[in-house]
Amino acid sequence: RVVSPQCLIIFGASGDLTHRKLIPALFELFKQRRLPSEFAILGCARRPWTDEEFREKMAFALESKVKQSTKEWEQFSANLFYEPVDLQRSEDVLKLSTRLEEIDRLKATHGNRTFYLSVAPKFYAMACKSLAGVGLLSDPKRNRIVIEKPFGRDYASAQTLNQIVQSCALESQIFRIDHYLGKETVQNILVLRFANTIFEPIWNRNYISNIQITSAETVGVEDRAGFYESAGALRDMVQNHLTQMLAITAMEPPGHFDPEAIRNEKAKVLQAAHLANEKEPWKCCVRGQYSQGGNKNSPILGYRQEPGVDPNSTTETYVAMKLFVDNWRWQGVPFYVRTGKRLAKRTSEVVLTFREAPVHLFDAAGGSPTSNQLVLRIQPNEGAEFRFEVKSPGSGMRSRPVEMEFSYDESFGEPSDEGYVRLLADVMLGDPTLFTRSDEVEAAWRLYTPLLELIEDSPWQLPVYQYEARTWGPAESDALLAKDQLLWRRP
Ligand code: BG6
Repeated sequence: RVVSPQCLIIFGASGDLTHRKLIPALFELFKQRRLPSEFAILGCARRPWTDEEFREKMAFALESKVKQSTKEWEQFSANLFYEPVDLQRSEDVLKLSTRLEEIDRLKATHGNRTFYLSVAPKFYAMACKSLAGVGLLSDPKRNRIVIEKPFGRDYASAQTLNQIVQSCALESQIFRIDHYLGKETVQNILVLRFANTIFEPIWNRNYISNIQITSAETVGVEDRAGFYESAGALRDMVQNHLTQMLAITAMEPPGHFDPEAIRNEKAKVLQAAHLANEKEPWKCCVRGQYSQGGNKNSPILGYRQEPGVDPNSTTETYVAMKLFVDNWRWQGVPFYVRTGKRLAKRTSEVVLTFREAPVHLFDAAGGSPTSNQLVLRIQPNEGAEFRFEVKSPGSGMRSRPVEMEFSYDESFGEPSDEGYVRLLADVMLGDPTLFTRSDEVEAAWRLYTPLLELIEDSPWQLPVYQYEARTWGPAESDALLAKDQLLWRRP
């Protein structure tokens, strides 16, 4: 579907996200002819750039993409504009209003405006109030606002932020973005579960013994120490991306495929989720921080040595935990969740391990048969694999595990769009299905409240264990699973 005429306003246009994700995604939509000719992008930040400078900066940042499609870039970049704006200054906000009216006239965008807040989270509330103050959010049909994560710092601040944002705009205008929901492979969990008959009957406590959700990165904190130091892995990854993967994996089938039906089910399952041990969270959670690693030729800095990081920082770059979902489907099934930076491999996956066969009739390679396992590979090498036992060829009746494999690459050839391509198109089309509703975001924060409070009040009870860069995290994380006679899957 082609987006209707509109202007997308990006606050924080001089920041990383704009040139790394947003402009490339919009350029991709343009190349796919999903943007109308009546379309404009207005970059806003404090720097005093001109339209031309903004275009040049974006072209420079997108260098290889621009070189591949020079002509298309020329056409696309003619729709890029820039306005220096500090949303805290009322005269700037008025100037912005005037500029938007000019753009409406120039590009026939009819007052359809999507405001994208790619600014530091502490400015979200102020930005919404400033925009609402001059009536820029007053038309629910034409004005939308996109808010990046993390939405709040904890349950209480998320509630307050929700109240403020909802006093400025209707919930239907508010799009809380989580780019994991834009990934094909995350959406595919819904299709796999609800478009097939074989999975749903076994997708529950009767057949599944445990679920692991991993998002491992090889990169470190990069140049985001300023943000990361006050966020840490729990706020940066777990409360949003990993929790969304958990919700989609664990939710009940919706009655229809419509935004409210999907989001109702996600909110419900998050309300039923809790840490395995809420009273003593240190028993079900491990925090870690990468220390230096690599080798002589390519040494890797430890987190505390990274530029901008406090040399005594106790911010976690790794977190692993055990959760339960107390409902009829999942009672008693542990969900193990982990994420970390500077780990051995970049991979995100959801692993469902099934219960063991009740009786072992055959000799098995390795001593005992492996449990059946369904691995949903979110990234990279997108796809899925299913592990089961077969007869090992030859005399006797020995079993050994094999894998059945589905790969996006082999089945569909071309790489799928980046999450932001899908999500930006959805916002501009007004489809909120893949965005987080206010009750979901609050339920997700509530889930981690005992942990956040413990870290705040008595951090010594949840120490940050060091792990060498390019390994699989602290040994204590393995011990968390060892207590349940389990191992993390090594992808
Ligand atoms: C972002 C986090 O939301 O997700 C980053 O702020 C992280 O710290 C990134 O690196 C990971 O996204 P992806 O899509 O590369 O897994």
